[in-house]
Amino acid sequence: MDVKVDISNVALETSRTYLRPFKEEDIYDLFEYCSVPGVGEAAGWKHHEDMAKTKIILDMFIKEKNVLAVVWKENSKVIGSVGFHNSWAVQDKNFECLKTTEIGYALSKEYWGRGIMTEVVKRAMDYVFEFTDIDALVVGHIWSNDRSRRVIEKCGFTRYKKGVYYSKELDQEFDDINYYMTRKFYVQEILKKR
Ligand SMILES: CC(C)(COP(=O)(O)OP(=O)(O)OC[C@H]1O[C@@H](n2cnc3c(N)ncnc32)[C@H](O)[C@@H]1OP(=O)(O)O)[C@@H](O)C(=O)NCCC(=O)NCCS
Repeated sequence: MDVKVDISNVALETSRTYLRPFKEEDIYDLFEYCSVPGVGEAAGWKHHEDMAKTKIILDMFIKEKNVLAVVWKENSKVIGSVGFHNSWAVQDKNFECLKTTEIGYALSKEYWGRGIMTEVVKRAMDYVFEFTDIDALVVGHIWSNDRSRRVIEKCGFTRYKKGVYYSKELDQEFDDINYYMTRKFYVQEILKKR
């Protein structure tokens, strides 16, 4: 079953970023990176063609209280997001008795390839295992999204199965790959080996 993760009072830090709830004034930074073709499309959503779309998404992040802004320390800009969403695991019989949430993320194209999202996902993973009672954290990526695959592998998730994901926005079906990390694995393999 999906666990609702409430990030409203969360303030996290990594060596290069701060993670904190989105604010209305983030709309310009959010539009800047979400309007670049290829960022959303890699994750199954259409890049934002106007700020009205960004406003809808930002309002949703603020209302749902499940997505953190990634703030680049050097310039205080919002350069990405990391959030906790309803997961594919609720429809899987091996996971239906477990409390789960699915981590999702996106980063401004200008910042790709510098290990930033791996740093962010590891911190978000620590947070969710420490402060919620989830049994497993799950994640997935569209088959062709090798960058996201590498983030997932570097964070230590276990590959589980191939699936199919339909994006309503793009009106397209994608093969995707699902991964999981149990609390036991996180404690025994991830925390202990740091
Ligand atoms: C996926 C995403 C968050 C990765 O962020 P990032 O900060 O660039 O990730 P990292 O730098 O930590 O790792 C990227 C890895 O991809 C690798 N990579 C870069 N370009 C690549 C390419 N063309 N093909 C394959 N791998 C590539 C990098 O070498 C790195 O792996 P390595 O450490 O083994 O060398 C970012 O690309 C993004 O926002 N994409 C669009 C949205 C998205 O896909 N979200 C995820 C949805 S599941």
